[in-house]
Amino acid sequence: MPLIRLDKFISERTEFTRSQIKSLAASGKISVDGITVKKSDTKIDTEKNTVSVNGQPISQNRFRYILLNKPAGFVCSTSDSDGTNVLSLIPPELRSKNLFPAGRLDKDSLGALLITDDGDLAHDLLSPKHHVPKIYIVKLARPFEINYINKFKKGMKLGNGEQCLPAEVRCVENCDKLAFVQICEGKYHQVKRMFAAVENHVESLMRISVGGLVLPEKLGVGECMELLHKDVENLFLPLDFEDFCAGYGAVFSAILINK
Ligand code: URA
Repeated sequence: MPLIRLDKFISERTEFTRSQIKSLAASGKISVDGITVKKSDTKIDTEKNTVSVNGQPISQNRFRYILLNKPAGFVCSTSDSDGTNVLSLIPPELRSKNLFPAGRLDKDSLGALLITDDGDLAHDLLSPKHHVPKIYIVKLARPFEINYINKFKKGMKLGNGEQCLPAEVRCVENCDKLAFVQICEGKYHQVKRMFAAVENHVESLMRISVGGLVLPEKLGVGECMELLHKDVENLFLPLDFEDFCAGYGAVFSAILINK
């Protein structure tokens, strides 16, 4: 049973500094198993005790993993000069120090974005070595052409000569201007540039899976949820692209079709 100081436990999991925690405790805002604790240096058992601040229980987990369904108009960065940072969408009870977006979606893109304070996990997720696949649904300006499938599979050359790894693309059933794309890397504006290289144009783009983690249908655009341990493990599991396209066409096309 790992005993640690209450202020250390809270400061590692929230935005509060140790001096703020001291004042919160002194003013009766902190409880352990429902009992008010006024001294912030009290030792607690992290496996057994439930700590609450301002009535909100604090997660036991050392790191926080949040899945955001990013809306268009927000940027994936940690600095916030004009209030359009994705971190501003995280509700206070899920915030902690050092959160950052693990991956990039363009300002006009939407969909699955992991926000975490676990630098090692983010590194593994983004490292080209791990080739974690990501699936997007895109709305195209012109109808999908069957020849895209081979061109993407072979590894596409972008307009500036940059070479892409092999990728998968399929038209969404019953809609020739919607397509699913799976890529295992993250070049700048990659999906948009891949379609530009086949003389099409991406009008809207939504990321719908990262590894084996699929954006839940119930998570609306602009909403976020804390991930459970098993969801975090899913990030590194593969998904079958064909099965995915067959199963999710109707679910995600409805969101893009009206954009
Ligand atoms: N590819 C793009 O072009 N844009 C994104 O936001 C993500 C992948």
